[in-house]
Amino acid sequence: MNAIDPGAGRRMFRPLALRYRQIRARTEALAAPLSPEDQAVQSMPDASPAKWHRAHTTWFFETFLLLPHRPGYRRFREEFGYLFNSYYESAGPRHARPKRGMLTRPSTAEIGDYRAHVDAAMAELLRDPPQPVLPLIELGLQHEEQHQELLLTDILHALAQNPLYPPYDPGWRDPAAAAGPASYLEGPEGLVEIGWAGEGFAFDNEAPRHQVFLTPYRITDRLVSNAEWLDFMAAGGYRTPGLWMSDGWAACQAEDWEAPLHWQPGEGGWRQFTLAGLRPVDPAAPVRHISWYEAEAFARWAGRRLPTEAEWEAASGLPGFRDAGGAGLAMDRQRLSSLSRLPPLGGCGRRVQRQIHGGADGAARRLAGHPARPCATELPQLLPAGRALAIRRAAAGGGRGMSQALLRGAATAQRSALLADALAGLSAARKTLPCKWLYDAEGARLFEAITRLPEYYPTRTETRILRDQAPAIAEAVGPGAAVVEFGPGDGAKAALLLPGLAAPAAYVPVDIAPEWLEGAASRVAAALPDLPVLPVVADFTLPFALPPGLGRAPRLGFFPGSTIGNFEPEEAVAFLRRARTTLGRGARLLLGADLVKDPAVLEAAYDDAAGVTAAFNLNLLHRLNREVGADFDVSAFHHRAIWNAALERVEMHLVSLWAQQVRLAGRVIRFEVGETIHTESSHKYRPERLASLAEAAGWRAVAAWTDPERLFSVWLLEAG
Ligand code: AVJ
Repeated sequence: MNAIDPGAGRRMFRPLALRYRQIRARTEALAAPLSPEDQAVQSMPDASPAKWHRAHTTWFFETFLLLPHRPGYRRFREEFGYLFNSYYESAGPRHARPKRGMLTRPSTAEIGDYRAHVDAAMAELLRDPPQPVLPLIELGLQHEEQHQELLLTDILHALAQNPLYPPYDPGWRDPAAAAGPASYLEGPEGLVEIGWAGEGFAFDNEAPRHQVFLTPYRITDRLVSNAEWLDFMAAGGYRTPGLWMSDGWAACQAEDWEAPLHWQPGEGGWRQFTLAGLRPVDPAAPVRHISWYEAEAFARWAGRRLPTEAEWEAASGLPGFRDAGGAGLAMDRQRLSSLSRLPPLGGCGRRVQRQIHGGADGAARRLAGHPARPCATELPQLLPAGRALAIRRAAAGGGRGMSQALLRGAATAQRSALLADALAGLSAARKTLPCKWLYDAEGARLFEAITRLPEYYPTRTETRILRDQAPAIAEAVGPGAAVVEFGPGDGAKAALLLPGLAAPAAYVPVDIAPEWLEGAASRVAAALPDLPVLPVVADFTLPFALPPGLGRAPRLGFFPGSTIGNFEPEEAVAFLRRARTTLGRGARLLLGADLVKDPAVLEAAYDDAAGVTAAFNLNLLHRLNREVGADFDVSAFHHRAIWNAALERVEMHLVSLWAQQVRLAGRVIRFEVGETIHTESSHKYRPERLASLAEAAGWRAVAAWTDPERLFSVWLLEAG
């Protein structure tokens, strides 16, 4: 398996205080669609009410960080220490779990106050946290992310009890469809290593890295689909005791199982209750909400067995080990493997146990370089389309619908990610919003218009460099390159670059939004009909696997447009380092970077006379109004672009024209007159600085090209 070090990059990626605010805000955003009544209900003993999750995660910070490490800190309310302890024996007695739904008091509003109280004290602690508490804070954040998943798992179960089948969020998307029939991969055999070996956070059951011996096995390259599950059902799977373990059969009988949890028969066939409400079962989607007993019976029926933990983990590094949607972003997944030689193993149970306790997320982390819990937590921000919510019935006791069921491979709707970012960014002392939210359909259209403005020189200058220097670039790159483009946009730049190269081997556009990929792929296919185009859906700020089939072609990364400038310099280093790992040994990178120049030219480029950039920036407020119900008076804000000479970047801000208040998800955001929201930074680089940035990330500059006016630069870097 290739060695990736997600930890290092991630730590650089977001400072702890910011991570704290974002993760805490994400919990609030996930709870935002829920009424106080929704938040109080406990639909089964293993589930917890949403407001309990909100309080318990807060209790963690209060108990393990503020009380021991903030002298003078007093509990928000003494009784909360008892009420919101879950199972931490060492932290004293606690309220009985099955009775959490009885807590009509404290009210949902009071729990909001509790969170605010603890957040304020944590903000103080985070200002200058003593070194020894850092791992505890990280643990608190990881813990909160786990509870974000539980909150959704539990609310899905709670809403499923309501005959009206109310959606949690009508915009929630089902898992991406599994592409095509499954095929088998030969798993790595012999002595292999598993377990967490990176530097970043890992739960204790994910370490240490250790050796296991694997005899030959095969494993399917994708998840089991609903279609396959329907075949199992049609074949009488739920009525055939011989397929089941005896405990499993007993549970199946006792609870009248006839389909996965949250499925019900409807007029046009089976329907599934999802966070978006009742939906027809999508045959191509991966099956979800099954217990280990059911999975085990299915495997027996299919003439397969469940993979062991070690097999799964070892195989997850294979090229072709696909996500449910055939996407390139590797996430952990439930996988039912083929039995080639081995009889069923007792290890299966352990595997499921491990997943239930979060361990399988370790595999995901090693793959995606991403601390686990792909559902409600980190990924959604990064997967604008909204992805799978896969919940599995837990197996620990064979019980189905247990709250420990996992949310898998997945994401929340884009809207809650936007809301979380907005809440976090707008409640910070210096208000800010991440620039990625500028690009909804309208934003993308406006950016397109920007690239054609007389003042906005970067796009046309870079295009000119690529065109004028095509022979030199082709010469430096050499023949047979597989070109991997990070964020291809409409593919125009690839369509310009590729025909100039000597016999390119393949084009691999990588983007988080599949919509973009189609456009880019077809544009390049039109220019070079014979070139293999292998799009990958992935967040390229995280590690991802290149598609199989690139063979030994030398990899050329392509990152034009000065998009690198939108990263903070340390993020840019993290990105460059990661790109080097993704591309592998001998990689090269063709990088477009805008140069430092006359501030008047820079400011004009970001504040054009026609007001297109102003509209682009202000669209963000319209977007918050449209998508998350904010009530910005957009005419009360003004676009500003300024050159920050100290940091060598153009900043875009939205300036409040007068003192005002804006409501967002029940919160009031106050603006002073002249206060700004920082919406984007475009860093400009001096050539020396860019070269040292590249060097810090393990790259060496081998060539650089510019235009006659020295406005923009295109670099060829080599892993070195
Ligand atoms: C496409 C991100 C490189 O920063 O110059 C254009 C975006 N913002 N005008 C840039 C942008 C304002 C652009 N990038």
